[in-house]
Amino acid sequence: MGTIMLIQIFACLLLGAVAVPPELEFMDSTLIEDRSTNLDDPKYRLTDAVQPTDMYVDLDVYLQEARFNGFVRLDVQTREENLRQIVMHQKVVSIQTVNVVDSAGRPVNLQFPDPYTTDDYYEILTINFANPIPIGNYSISIRYQGAINLNQFERGFYRGHYFLNNQMRYYATTQFQPYYARMAFPCFDEPQFKSRFIISITRDPSLSPSYSNMPIALTSTAGVRLRETFFPTPIVSAYLVAFTVSDFVETNYTHTDTRPFGIVSRPGVTNQHPYAAETGLEITNVMDDYFGIDYNDMGQGQPMKNDHLAIPDFPAGAMENWGMVNYREAYLLYDENHTNLINKIFIATIMAHELAHKWFGNLVTCFWWSNLWLNESFASLFEYFSAHEANPSLELDDQFVVDQVHSALNWDAGAAATPMNFSDVDSNPSISSHFSVTSYAKGASVLRMMEHFLGPRCFRMGLRYYLRENAYGIGTPEKLYDALRRAAAEDMEFRRLYPNVDVGAILDNWVQNPGSPVVNVHVNMSTGLITFTQERFYVWPNTPIPNTRWHIPITWTHSGNFSFENTRPSFIFSGDSHTIQNTPGHNFVILNIAQSGLYRVNYDDHNWEMIAAYLRRSNNNRLTVHKLNRAQMVNDVLYFVRARKINIDRAFDVLSFLRSETDYYVWAAAIGQLNWIRNRFEHLPTAHELFTRYMLQQMATVINHLGYDERSTDSTSTILNRMQIMNLACNLGHAGCISDSLRKWNSFKQNSSNLVPVNQRRYVYCVGLREGDSSDYDFLMQQYMTSENAADMVVILRALACTKNTTSLNHYLHQTLTNDRIRLHDRTNAFTFALQGNSENLDTVLEFLFQNIAAIREAHGGAARLNININNIAGFLTKFEDIEKFRLWVNQNQVALGSSVFAGAGVVTSAMNQLTWGSQNALDIHTSVLARSSAATVTTSLMLLLSVLAIHFIR
Ligand SMILES: *[C@@H]1O[C@H](CO)[C@@H](O)[C@H](O)[C@H]1NC(C)=O
Ligand SMILES: *[C@@H]1O[C@H](CO)[C@@H](O)[C@H](O)[C@H]1NC(C)=O
Ligand SMILES: *[C@@H]1O[C@H](CO)[C@@H](O)[C@H](O)[C@H]1NC(C)=O
Ligand SMILES: *[C@@H]1O[C@H](CO)[C@@H](O)[C@H](O)[C@H]1NC(C)=O
Ligand SMILES: [Zn+2]
Repeated sequence: MGTIMLIQIFACLLLGAVAVPPELEFMDSTLIEDRSTNLDDPKYRLTDAVQPTDMYVDLDVYLQEARFNGFVRLDVQTREENLRQIVMHQKVVSIQTVNVVDSAGRPVNLQFPDPYTTDDYYEILTINFANPIPIGNYSISIRYQGAINLNQFERGFYRGHYFLNNQMRYYATTQFQPYYARMAFPCFDEPQFKSRFIISITRDPSLSPSYSNMPIALTSTAGVRLRETFFPTPIVSAYLVAFTVSDFVETNYTHTDTRPFGIVSRPGVTNQHPYAAETGLEITNVMDDYFGIDYNDMGQGQPMKNDHLAIPDFPAGAMENWGMVNYREAYLLYDENHTNLINKIFIATIMAHELAHKWFGNLVTCFWWSNLWLNESFASLFEYFSAHEANPSLELDDQFVVDQVHSALNWDAGAAATPMNFSDVDSNPSISSHFSVTSYAKGASVLRMMEHFLGPRCFRMGLRYYLRENAYGIGTPEKLYDALRRAAAEDMEFRRLYPNVDVGAILDNWVQNPGSPVVNVHVNMSTGLITFTQERFYVWPNTPIPNTRWHIPITWTHSGNFSFENTRPSFIFSGDSHTIQNTPGHNFVILNIAQSGLYRVNYDDHNWEMIAAYLRRSNNNRLTVHKLNRAQMVNDVLYFVRARKINIDRAFDVLSFLRSETDYYVWAAAIGQLNWIRNRFEHLPTAHELFTRYMLQQMATVINHLGYDERSTDSTSTILNRMQIMNLACNLGHAGCISDSLRKWNSFKQNSSNLVPVNQRRYVYCVGLREGDSSDYDFLMQQYMTSENAADMVVILRALACTKNTTSLNHYLHQTLTNDRIRLHDRTNAFTFALQGNSENLDTVLEFLFQNIAAIREAHGGAARLNININNIAGFLTKFEDIEKFRLWVNQNQVALGSSVFAGAGVVTSAMNQLTWGSQNALDIHTSVLARSSAATVTTSLMLLLSVLAIHFIR
């Protein structure tokens, strides 16, 4: 799924939320199991006794009434002698008739009195035969009634709305991954059951032609209604089937018969189509070349179209339905005057992600969700690298490291991290939760590491073998390993560099192990001996460390002869420890060139000391170290501070080069963690204030360097850097940032045609509201209500929460219950925006939650959405009184909270752990920061801090 879970947007948030309390984790990796079954709960999985070949799905759709009449004919082959039953999935409203005929068209007798039974828990339909049936071909016909869901988060076939000239209009579309096709039609709803689908949809003639995976083959009338039948799909899993019934409109950018490409949306916004069309077409071309299989040729004899639909209400980020990709509107429609660079990049990367699924996912499908990474890791990898190929100026190759590799390492640092191959995926909830950072960012980072190891040509060859050999079939990890082994065996260079290395075994080690390693490095400068050890890295101090070992591709360089070019590993580090001989000398080493591997690196103190001094040296000495290595070191050091794996004073010694650092990537690697530390001191005002001042001092140079206004010569990373730095600077109270923002805000407020430059809106709007009153809020709310660009609306929604007027903030929170221009998927975000807006907002938000628990559950889309709201509170309960207040409320409202009570309890634990961390580390960090700070008030503030700490500990 393009569930692209807004990782970037919520980076800071996730970093806090992921911080789950330490718990034991035992997942030993040595066992290579047969991964074509994961039948922990055998009843949950279908057996492969029956294989569907052709599925005729015929739906008669009534949008206004939110219902449809359904008919399916499933042509199946049985593979087991004397079957007494055929079992498939269903979750429709009611089944009316079931008939089975054999290949000669003769009826097959069903059992009396129970010709079929349904099981609501397992979502199963069982057809019972009167007598055992011989192996053969059968046709099953089922007539049934179905519902169009009114809540996008129920998925299946659901209805949404939009406004045209202030009039509300309905449309309906589908989201079937991972187990919702069964809500639209009875079927074999597991990825391994692939078949052709022939879809027909009957609709009201006032609507536009319907969309499905394939082009329309035939239109006929059915009374006053119209029935469209689509060409047969290629062999495909049920979760990839899709259709949309709407009055949407399409623009075509190439509509030659062989390479069609279309962007589809509600009417009125077709001027926002061109960017996605140009980008998507270019990315399709890049991947056609890379994989050596053309997108448009995948239709198995039918024309394969390439439509991309902007859906106003969409539960995920996007969904890779073959021939009909659905996107949340904000991730497809681009308006130069209203879409900022971050969202513009999302459009490119999300399209690349979904298009990559056409090869990884649609053509070759993971056999079961336990190995979802066979779909999602590749999509997440090409999300960056094929979009980069299509438009190098977006710098997506480098962004991969700070987005994906760093998210993967962050996630893996929690005790709850699961392995990429996760055998506990055997129920609906466990499937959903495996759509995780592990399956996406971690898998993509592992694949990128393999690409550096194999070399780009060999890696591509391996992927081509895998795709060609398994096209229209099922992928397994072993099939991928074999394809890569074959490519490696044919590659002279690889064999020369790594004789007797089994690439399959190395990849499998990363697929099986939960977590990611840290490599500890000790350099003996007088002998030249460098010693490596490895262990799983946990961010929480004192987490028991299991004996997991990885096969780690090591790249390294040393200050005697720096080189950051070669990302081919010099060796694979396996086992507990390893020693290599370097030339003796007073040189420090740096491992993991351009962070090409998925591991952190911790050096001995003297090596860190030399790195710190080197990076700090004048004349921009640091620039001789690769920016991605600077980014890695900053990120690693901050995590080592959190884990107490480095001397605190040495850590801030290393970080001191940030004072002259102006690079986007380095700052992107620092900001989330610096904020995390700062938030841990909110209950210790002196430490909090000092740390804020420290951060602003570190940022002084980069703020100056960037300036407040965009220049036409600015690169992508410069603009992104200004966005992240100014946003932080304004939040930390930087006077220049605030006054420049206020100037821009007031000019806009005076005359709304003085648009705030699109990339500055997020913090300019926020400052305007934070420093303003309810009239500023009302003005921006007005902008929200009239905007036609979904991405801009999210920017506005976030900024509205910066108001400090409690009447306005309450209005904002209540709008998330009632305002039907705020999409369900944005309502949950709005709740979190309200917490992020100002730390003072907490009381109002908690009060709103306490008073409206049932209404929020209803209006935000269900209990799972309410849980997201509740979970996100953890990072904002930074004071003991607030945690206590929240804990009491959870205790006293267990009935009203229902299943959310567990989320509530988790928040209390997590918030307490974070608070404790702050109290335990405040003194060390305070002392270290103070020593490096230009502040004069040394002793007094230290005394103050100590007294606050004492009060806290007494409590
Ligand atoms: C079932 O149909 C397939 C074609 O779909 C055919 O190849 C096969 O021989 C048939 N099997 C039987 C037992 O009739
Ligand atoms: C898009 O292309 C299809 C088929 O080529 C054509 O029928 C349709 O009119 C075109 N629509 C637009 C808006 O150009
Ligand atoms: C963006 O604004 C400019 C100047 O106002 C205008 O010419 C252009 O048409 C606008 N673009 C869109 C897509 O509305
Ligand atoms: C918030 O704004 C309203 C409306 O302008 C005003 O009446 C109220 O006093 C403001 N509240 C605060 C706390 O400033
Ligand atoms: Zn995906």
